[in-house]
Amino acid sequence: MPSIVIVGAQWGDEGKGKVVDLLAERAQVVARFQGGNNAGHTIVHGDETYKFHLIPSGILDPQTTCVIGNGVVIDPGVLIAEIDGLRERGVDVSNLKVSANAHLIMPYHLMLDHAGEARLGKLQIGTTKRGIGPCYADKAARLGIRMQDLLDEKILKKKIMAALEPKQLQLRPFERDPALDLQSMTEQYLTYGHRLERHIADTTSLLHRALDDDRFVVFEGAQAALLDIDHGTYPFVTSSNPVAGAACTGTGVGPLDIDEVWGIAKAYATRVGAGPFPTELEDDLGEELRRRGGEFGTTTGRPRRTGWIDLVALRYAARINSMTALVITKLDVLSGFDTLRVCTAYEGADGAVFETFPYHQTVLHHVSGRYTELPGWSEDISGARSPEELPQATRDYLRFIEEAVGVPVVLVGVGPGRDQIVWLGERSPLLAESR
Ligand code: GDP
Ligand code: IMO
Ligand code: MG
Repeated sequence: MPSIVIVGAQWGDEGKGKVVDLLAERAQVVARFQGGNNAGHTIVHGDETYKFHLIPSGILDPQTTCVIGNGVVIDPGVLIAEIDGLRERGVDVSNLKVSANAHLIMPYHLMLDHAGEARLGKLQIGTTKRGIGPCYADKAARLGIRMQDLLDEKILKKKIMAALEPKQLQLRPFERDPALDLQSMTEQYLTYGHRLERHIADTTSLLHRALDDDRFVVFEGAQAALLDIDHGTYPFVTSSNPVAGAACTGTGVGPLDIDEVWGIAKAYATRVGAGPFPTELEDDLGEELRRRGGEFGTTTGRPRRTGWIDLVALRYAARINSMTALVITKLDVLSGFDTLRVCTAYEGADGAVFETFPYHQTVLHHVSGRYTELPGWSEDISGARSPEELPQATRDYLRFIEEAVGVPVVLVGVGPGRDQIVWLGERSPLLAESR
């Protein structure tokens, strides 16, 4: 039952989609387990670029079954648009299976997300405004609408009524919005149900069968460790658990069904949205990193904040995920800097030094990075395909990271293309598995 969980090790957008797409060649099933269309996963195949928000990044491989697990929150209109967009590009989506237990993002979730951010004003989180938080809130309040509810008009209407009832006050500013009309909302969602019915499945049993038959399963995380609602920089987080443990709850498999956990990290750091970012560069260097790395959000187009790699946060991410391997992406973006800085500890305003990730919000908001300087390299490494083709300084940089984090780097990204990778050391025996 070989299986790998792919998780973001920083603040998201590390290149998870690219890694999942690579592994999908060998996998029989790729399963998303949390988040929703706040995610934006980019895959570059030759001249073709795909951006997935909900559909798992294995969909381009026609032999891979793609699962949207129960832990994902689904905006059905977005999912249908994504399916149609792929069909138009000739991609077969018949292998897409959606959990009947996944929760649905409703029009009022989008309204509440917008209103919530507006109310917070300066303190806003900088959400993607896709209704993610309010949808997970309804799930926890047991007022959620699930995929299976789309197949029964009576149940659907009743559940929408029950969900709307306690929100009347909050939704008052939107009361004239036609999207809130109970009848038309019900009809709209029934239409979605008809469109999606062929994809709705018992995805938990499907995964059990695949694992019991020794098939290779890849669990695809969205967002990242530092955006985790429990372990991230709360309240500047998303509303789900992007850590590896959620692959279990978000699909219905047990912890012992997981063989490996790969954390994906950029060779530097980025964050989109508000919240603490101890190694942030708010100067020309940060701007340069943003320009070179093309650091603009896949989902919202917002400029991403940029900074040096943060090994304190990465060590923490490695521990909370039980990471067995690291993938370092975008190493090519660092070519041409004379010296590179890596953050090995935090320093508080009072001079206190933190080598482990501080749990206290106030502390975290005021720390800055303590850095070790490493030599940069000037070579363009985007054509490298083997470790020998990488300059010594890049190998030293990678070695420093893996030693500080205590997790081996197995794969390095040297460009957005599918083939722009370098495998390091021994390949995982899991990758020898064939379908
Ligand atoms: P995800 O959300 O973790 O899947 O990452 P995103 O797709 O949001 O952002 C990663 C961006 O970096 C995308 O535009 C990728 O095409 C690109 N990318 C991925 N790996 C590499 C790499 O090794 N080098 C470069 N230059 N770009 C990369
Ligand atoms: P992928 O999967 C980067 C951020 C938002 C905001 C916070 C909460 O592409 O790595 P939300 O809409 O989830 O309530 O917003 O989380 N965020 C992401 N940042 N990559 C993502 O996904 C993100 N998904 C959410 O910017 O700060
Ligand atoms: Mg992204």
